Amino acid sequence: MEAGKGILAADESNASADKRLEHYGIKAGTEMHRQYRDLFLDAPDIEQYLSGVILFTETLDQKGSDKKLFPDSLLARDILPGVKVDLGTEAMPESPQEVITTGLLDLPERLQQYKQDGAAFTKWRSVVRIDRDTLPTSKNLVENAKRLASYALEVQKAGMVPIIEPEVLMEGKHSRLRAKEVIKEALKTVFAALAEQAVDISGVIVKTSMAVSGSQSGRVDTPEEVATDTLEALIASVPKQVPGIVFLSGGQDTETAMQNLAAICKKAKDVTAPWPLTYSFARAFQDDALKIWKGDPENVPAAREAFIARLKEASAALGDKDA
Ligand code: 13P
Repeated sequence: MEAGKGILAADESNASADKRLEHYGIKAGTEMHRQYRDLFLDAPDIEQYLSGVILFTETLDQKGSDKKLFPDSLLARDILPGVKVDLGTEAMPESPQEVITTGLLDLPERLQQYKQDGAAFTKWRSVVRIDRDTLPTSKNLVENAKRLASYALEVQKAGMVPIIEPEVLMEGKHSRLRAKEVIKEALKTVFAALAEQAVDISGVIVKTSMAVSGSQSGRVDTPEEVATDTLEALIASVPKQVPGIVFLSGGQDTETAMQNLAAICKKAKDVTAPWPLTYSFARAFQDDALKIWKGDPENVPAAREAFIARLKEASAALGDKDA
């Protein structure tokens, strides 16, 4: 991880990309996916704020407006291409309201291909749902943690860096305190599984949610509250050998995500948190730009300007310049 820089998550699956585009009144489909990725990946000067981009597999074989394959174009600008390698989620038979992440079966073969395509790192996302005191179940946390650890081991064997992302969903009526406890528990379970499978944790990046009140809780957290609880959860669960932690935006509105990121990074310095922290947002980086773009080539320059403004804001939120 490089000071002042972070990661763009541009790895929405085809189904999620279509849903996102349709939400903004933009046509779906493969060619629109390419234009959607190009909007962000060929924006000028992104290398000032990004050291990596997580891609979806489809994008590895697509070309940007510079006529280069996206991974080659990123590498030429010193931005590492990464790839989402899980194959999405399915209902967990023992607890059908929860999901488990799939994609381990042919993972070693797929990793060889992604590496040839230029990927330097990978991501696997598991999903943790909160419902009162009943969800998540420990069975769900343990099964997802085992799979995250098996994934991380295979990625290290293949010579790439794994990002492990147990995303604790913001959807629900739960309190911020409950979110904090679940983030802590989920990460502790993941690190127990990583130890069990002898994964080298000095080569693993953690991607986490912030500890925020549930989106249907009717509560609004202050950035200081989010910072305190997020850091307490992380300090209690993430070993200091981990080389970096990155945050997802999780559906928070863009402004809130930026303010919370800034408060977390500021507090991390006060409490001398042991790992570098940075952003790995999708929605909080894309929303403004998509509203402007609307799928119209004429709007690309203005949409890119909005995107760069958010990258700049997030980079400033890290506070690395005055470190
Ligand atoms: P959001 O920032 O939109 O939550 O996306 C980040 C991500 O990679 C979720 O898996």
